Amino acid sequence: PIKYTLSGGGKRLRPSLLLAAFSALSHKNPQEAMNQALGIEMFHNFTLLHDDVMDKADIRRGRPTVHRRWNENAAILSGDAMLTMSCQLIACCAGDKLQDLLSIFNTTAMEVYEGQQLDMEFERRNDVAVSEYLEMIRLKTSVLLACSCAIGALMAGAGRDVVKAFYDYGINLGLAFQLRDDWLDTYGDPAIFGKEIGGDIVNRKKTWLLINGLSEAGEELGGIISENLDDRELIAQVVRVYDRLNLGERCCLLAERFSKTAIDALENVELNHNAREFFIQLALKAANRSH
Ligand code: IPE
Ligand code: IPE
Ligand code: MG
Ligand code: MG
Ligand code: MG
Repeated sequence: PIKYTLSGGGKRLRPSLLLAAFSALSHKNPQEAMNQALGIEMFHNFTLLHDDVMDKADIRRGRPTVHRRWNENAAILSGDAMLTMSCQLIACCAGDKLQDLLSIFNTTAMEVYEGQQLDMEFERRNDVAVSEYLEMIRLKTSVLLACSCAIGALMAGAGRDVVKAFYDYGINLGLAFQLRDDWLDTYGDPAIFGKEIGGDIVNRKKTWLLINGLSEAGEELGGIISENLDDRELIAQVVRVYDRLNLGERCCLLAERFSKTAIDALENVELNHNAREFFIQLALKAANRSH
């Protein structure tokens, strides 16, 4: 299952961020940060195995999820093994950076678990506020992107302010990224997105779309999601309300705002033209991506 997961592709966004930050801030050989880049991607893939159990998801990266291809125990244990391997990789050849790396990595991991727990708790609540949602996605998604950027900067030998600027870039990039992920879960093309469409609606996930739908058409939408409709009918009825309220477009506009905030976070960091352009384009892409 581990080989199956790691050979299934994925965008490799987090290790790319780590290595890009490292290369933007030093002339050292990127191989020096490769173990940490691999560790972050391994950790991310661990979270996906457990997330797919929690979200009862059947498809990821266009293929059956591990708990569907094997079983839930295989997904849990393979995930556990990947978590341990990710710790080993983060610590590997870390030299005098070991303490700093373990500190940020372990703090981040704890935050991801907390975010995932909130995500699950919100399924059962219909009164989740947008501010609670933003805090939840900061924890489950943003901090890992921020940690990737910060580790790249740390490994490059950057000072506190620069590490912080890269961390803030990652936080806002992550908010844009997860808002777009939620949008794609409803409006994406499954063949490109690689995941089933409508899973968030079926699970009553409190996405930005559903939270705002509930606050603007509460009686109607609350009624729809409390009925025992079959999945296809449920998704169709919810999307009809979303469309009427123009929530899809508004969600993407908010994602774009976070992308711009991400770009601003690097404003005072000295970067060459190519490096800055890379981080700008990546932030813009996060809010407009189709997979
Ligand atoms: C999926 O992350 C989990 C979220 C935070 C939305 P990615 O969209 O980066 O997944 P892969 O690695 O590219 O498949
Ligand atoms: C995932 O959020 C966050 C983590 C995996 C920690 P989602 O549940 O939206 O991610 P996908 O859509 O399944 O990739
Ligand atoms: Mg999921
Ligand atoms: Mg989830
Ligand atoms: Mg999702």
